Amino acid sequence: MTSTSEIAIQCLGYTPIPVALLSCDEVPMVDLYRKDVETGRLRLYRAANVPMLPEDLERLEQSKVSWLYTPEVDHGEMQLYIRRKLDYLVRDNTLSVRDRFRRLNEVVTGILGSAFEVDETDELMRSSAYVASKAVQLLCEDEMTSGDLIALLHHDYQTVTHSLNVSYMMVSLAREMRIASDSELQSIAVAGLLHDIGKLSVSERILNKSQRLQRREERVAQKHPAHGFRRLCERTDISFGQLMVVYQHHERTTGKGYPVGAVGDEIHPWARLCSVVNVFESLISNRPYRRRYPLTEAFQIMDGPLSAGLDREMYRCWKQLILKK
Ligand SMILES: [Fe+2]
Repeated sequence: MTSTSEIAIQCLGYTPIPVALLSCDEVPMVDLYRKDVETGRLRLYRAANVPMLPEDLERLEQSKVSWLYTPEVDHGEMQLYIRRKLDYLVRDNTLSVRDRFRRLNEVVTGILGSAFEVDETDELMRSSAYVASKAVQLLCEDEMTSGDLIALLHHDYQTVTHSLNVSYMMVSLAREMRIASDSELQSIAVAGLLHDIGKLSVSERILNKSQRLQRREERVAQKHPAHGFRRLCERTDISFGQLMVVYQHHERTTGKGYPVGAVGDEIHPWARLCSVVNVFESLISNRPYRRRYPLTEAFQIMDGPLSAGLDREMYRCWKQLILKK
């Protein structure tokens, strides 16, 4: 019998590679592993010297296997392979922007997911910078509408997918408000991906609790902006604005937020941007203790007391952007 922690250890350090990105003519010569559905253990699927045939890929697809894994020793080569494929995907004009975004979204969930799983800040920074650059490229395409954006969001409640959603939304809102240059959009996207990094220091039991948190648990959960700040504040590869998104995204303009109860302009504009979409994202996503709300209902809720603590102009702009689709 395999324990859950053994499975986690077995997958740690392996690079997930999306089957959708593999093509027979260019599979790197590395050992590929497959996760056993019943035990969760990784088993050798194809040795490095065995060629991948079209029927192998078909069989994987039919068996609904979406990911294969490569061992740590091949991490560098696989990263290069995945990036080469993604660079090509993002520029592939034969696909609609929406289709490219959908595929990118699937792949980057795995890239970011494994970075969050190993809980290594350098790796998270590297992955976030890469994911942000690809996502911004597609989000800035004229063809991409807010309807596409909403259709492509994830609705589960995991830190990774929530962070991706928030990141995409922050970029869309910043563009709509014209408050950021192209290079700043990239920084904003990275900030969105990292905004909840402090949750890595909060226990899963509290984060995934299916009942309402007790006051003591709530206080622990509310420490995540400060944990995130401490984790990143001494780094030289993070800007002040990005750091403020991590630290202030639960502050409210009325002073009723946390961690310190900052008011109005004391809250960095990027953090105010994050607050608006963060509240919206949580309403339209499933939570362990409730189902997600439809868009119009989410806005009805936000129009209530919640909106008082949000940047008025940013909230107005976000609502207009999403409802016009
Ligand atoms: Fe948060």
